[in-house]
Amino acid sequence: MKKISFVIVLLLAGLVWSCGDDKPKEKKEDPFKTSASKAKKTTDKGSSEATLSDEKEAEKEAEQTTPIPPEQLKKAKEIIVAISGADLEAIDGKKKYKLFCTPCHGMDGKMAINGAKDLTKVKTSLEENVAQIYHGKGLMTPFRGVLKDAEIVAVANYVRNDLRK
Ligand code: HEC
Repeated sequence: MKKISFVIVLLLAGLVWSCGDDKPKEKKEDPFKTSASKAKKTTDKGSSEATLSDEKEAEKEAEQTTPIPPEQLKKAKEIIVAISGADLEAIDGKKKYKLFCTPCHGMDGKMAINGAKDLTKVKTSLEENVAQIYHGKGLMTPFRGVLKDAEIVAVANYVRNDLRK
């Protein structure tokens, strides 16, 4: 009996030892593989640049599709509802646009500085635009406090009615 249990213990120890031996081998291979592929990337400049710009584009796309938070849309709706037609008529939306928006968007709305969007291709709603002008978004600065609520709606209308094609 003692002999058998000794053999079993030996076998088990052998098993444990062989398993223990296998794992480090796999682990050893991994860093080797990654460093090899890293080396490939760094030597092949063209492809590494391509992957970088791909990542940047993916980031840009993610930014562009980021929805405006619902509480900002709610606030925008409140602003739009509170503004009367007479309030809007008293404001020169084009003048406000020229003063505050051209540095990034250009007079024609097509100048897209710092990821600013082409305003001739606006597909978003008036609420979204008012929310974006009021609260800012991405690299666009907020105009809350800079422009009055009615001025924000007027300038959004100018973009939608006069710049958008
Ligand atoms: C500091 C630069 C800057 C200024 C100034 C600026 N914008 Fe922007 N604008 C941006 C950027 C950047 C974006 C894209 C932001 C994003 O959606 O991530 C943008 C996006 C927009 C959009 C959204 C377009 C769409 O397709 O949904 C509107 C509308 C807009 N701007 C209107 C205005 C108006 C009106 C003004 C002036 C009151 C203004 N912007 C001033 C940088 C600016």
